[in-house]
Amino acid sequence: MTTSDRNTKKPWGGRFEEATAPAVERFSASVHFDRALASYDLRGSRAHVAMLASQGIIPEGDAQAILEGLDTIDAEIAAGQFVFEPALEDIHMNIESRLRELVGPVGGRLHTGRSRNDQVATDLTLYLRDASLAARRGLLELRRVLLERSREHVDTLLPGYTHLQRAQPVRLAHQWLAYTEMLGRDAARFADAGARLSNSPLGSGALAGSTLPLAPEHSAAALGFAGPPRNSMDAVASRDGAVEWLAAVALCMIHLSRLSEELVLWSSAEFGFVELADAYSTGSSLMPQKKNPDVPELVRGKSGRAVGNLVSLLVTLKGLPLSYNRDLQEDKEPIFDSAQTLRDSLLVMSGTLATLRVDTDRMRQAASDPLLLATDLAETLVREGVPFRDAHEAVGKLVAHSVREGLDLRDLSREQLQEWHAAFPAAGSELLDLEGSVEARNAAGGTSRARVEAALATLEEELDREAEALGGEAS
Ligand code: ARG
Repeated sequence: MTTSDRNTKKPWGGRFEEATAPAVERFSASVHFDRALASYDLRGSRAHVAMLASQGIIPEGDAQAILEGLDTIDAEIAAGQFVFEPALEDIHMNIESRLRELVGPVGGRLHTGRSRNDQVATDLTLYLRDASLAARRGLLELRRVLLERSREHVDTLLPGYTHLQRAQPVRLAHQWLAYTEMLGRDAARFADAGARLSNSPLGSGALAGSTLPLAPEHSAAALGFAGPPRNSMDAVASRDGAVEWLAAVALCMIHLSRLSEELVLWSSAEFGFVELADAYSTGSSLMPQKKNPDVPELVRGKSGRAVGNLVSLLVTLKGLPLSYNRDLQEDKEPIFDSAQTLRDSLLVMSGTLATLRVDTDRMRQAASDPLLLATDLAETLVREGVPFRDAHEAVGKLVAHSVREGLDLRDLSREQLQEWHAAFPAAGSELLDLEGSVEARNAAGGTSRARVEAALATLEEELDREAEALGGEAS
């Protein structure tokens, strides 16, 4: 029999006299998206059937036949030959129905002591554990790119901004390392969310377990979980692990969005700090001169979807009584969408950052605005014993004067500076030095060369450690 003459009879036929209305069939079907769970469903079924046999609940020979049938289905899916039948609602019933076609009535033993409720919760948990690993791998790669690019730009100075106004000069490496900090915490959040997806829901049945002598700890161990369900009702009804994971995606996408926004700004003619590689830009269908930063724009745009997906699941869960409710089927599309969005975004951001060209002259020129050193001037007065507030006031007036008169602070003599505060110890040209300003910021977390180089070394060690840990984690 080929998969195209699939018997679409529902397994609950015994209780029903009428067929499902076509509109309901369409409305409730989920196989067009939950087929993404196929490999996890097969894994869960293998672990379940092995447990059933080892507990003597089903004969060993039947278990063997079922396992072989599941292997065939695995191969059919991999070869693109499996027909996903919407009339069979979801991936679980599609696989089970095909199994019974393949191995006959013994296939009907697979669902012993199991409900689609614990089955789908198990599939989804396995999916999320893998997706957490994928996110950590993608984040590792992006941080490696940022590490490399930062290494190239320890000596590239640019203005650091607050309120998008030039504030104080920083090293470009320091600015990009700010993102590796955020992305490092994101990776930790994925590892942490993974830790809360540690117990297998399998064995919980529909909600209250089974009268059969199941051993959920066996299937849990076979699937790599830390343990069996702690509470069967919680196991089928809860999706907080998924919420946490969606929150981690949303936050990570927000970080990527902020980085993207900077690339959009920096690649504009107004800034001119970077030029995106052709391979990571697009043109305009109308304006021949345009080279558009569509990649960072799309990442920024897609961060909205990730936030929406988180909110979507939270709202789905709100007000649901225990235990399983069909509303929970709505958990999957946001999760699959967030997984895809994050995977793609991390990939294109890595490529964009790896290939963009930095205009170090433009950056330095912008950083050479002497007003960026106004804080340094105030701190010079502090070193002369002036209270910071008085120093701030004096330099503020001096800056207002220089802006009004179109003066460069570096051209002012010591005497001219002293008109604004008697404690100025030297001329502007001696006090205002771009490199010196950056180097002087040498406390922990600062932008001096020594601090930035130490941060690069620390990051490299952290990434190596993480790569090793990830290499050891099976998916
Ligand atoms: N497709 C369903 C879901 O995603 C599977 C569970 C169905 N359970 C049920 N009792 N109808 O949640």
